[in-house]
Amino acid sequence: MQKILVARPIFPDVIERLKQYFDVDWHQGEVLPADELTRRLADKDGALTAGDPVGAAALAAAPRLRVVSNMAVGYNNFDMAAFNAANVLGTNTPDVLNESTADFGWALMMAAARRIAESEHWLRAGKWQKWTYDGFLGSDIYGSTLGVIGMGRIGQALARRAKGFNMQVIYHNRSRVAPEIEAELNAEYASKQDLLRRADHVVLVLPYTKENHHTIGAAELAQMKPTATLTNIARGGIVDDAALVEALRTKQIAAAGLDVYEGEPRLNPDLLTVPNVVLTPHIASATEATRRAMANLAADNLIAALGEGPRAGRPPNPINPEVIGKARS
Ligand code: DGY
Repeated sequence: MQKILVARPIFPDVIERLKQYFDVDWHQGEVLPADELTRRLADKDGALTAGDPVGAAALAAAPRLRVVSNMAVGYNNFDMAAFNAANVLGTNTPDVLNESTADFGWALMMAAARRIAESEHWLRAGKWQKWTYDGFLGSDIYGSTLGVIGMGRIGQALARRAKGFNMQVIYHNRSRVAPEIEAELNAEYASKQDLLRRADHVVLVLPYTKENHHTIGAAELAQMKPTATLTNIARGGIVDDAALVEALRTKQIAAAGLDVYEGEPRLNPDLLTVPNVVLTPHIASATEATRRAMANLAADNLIAALGEGPRAGRPPNPINPEVIGKARS
């Protein structure tokens, strides 16, 4: 039987599925440190990860390893140059999380714009004495301008929801989406600078790459409206968190909603000191149904990539399909 590592706690019934095909080494404790992950991968044919960094050293130490299946759509935890050099397949879990993640983007954006977390903390602290005309004034969503940076599948799902709020949608992306998608979403392409200047609510939905590091920093925040909100449901590192703290503190922008952070699960401690930011612990895709779908898709990818199951040899979501069928190097 081929051997696999499941590097994180996941649904036990998914482990049972994997056990039908593989000898499973299931790690259920805290996140594996890099050296421990490398050690546990050394005798494995495949692995299931969820954001765990896998690079050249781990691959070199695991000569039998042919596939690493990430239970996430983002795969910036994989060093894909190293995967390609070693002929190791990487897989991810796109699409199944689009709608839940888009819902959550709205929830964060609205919570930031309407100061829901901030006012709730105030209420819980027993500070509410009377209704006032100017208590927790926020910014409107209905009829405002939504600026989406990153118009992939999740960005499109997010933009689609804007119709019900009668919003104008502008977007920025590496390249323009097809005209029929622009028409369906009633979305106008804009330069990043134009978007930052015009949008009332900016939402980040782009993948993390070296080029996207600090897509939003001090210079970008300075271009935004003082009434605007910024929401990050993409990846830590796309926003310069220190610059954001400063912009929130000085009210250069009105509010922010963050689900992801530079260096998470640790976060810039200054973020905890500014009231006008809503902070959640990387849960945009966290509904029972979606996380189950992600786990099962990650299992499908692993099973098929290791030549088992009904899709043997044809994993549904290869990141680097060009290595399929090539000998490990
Ligand atoms: C993803 O799928 O990339 C989400 O961020 C969950 O990790």
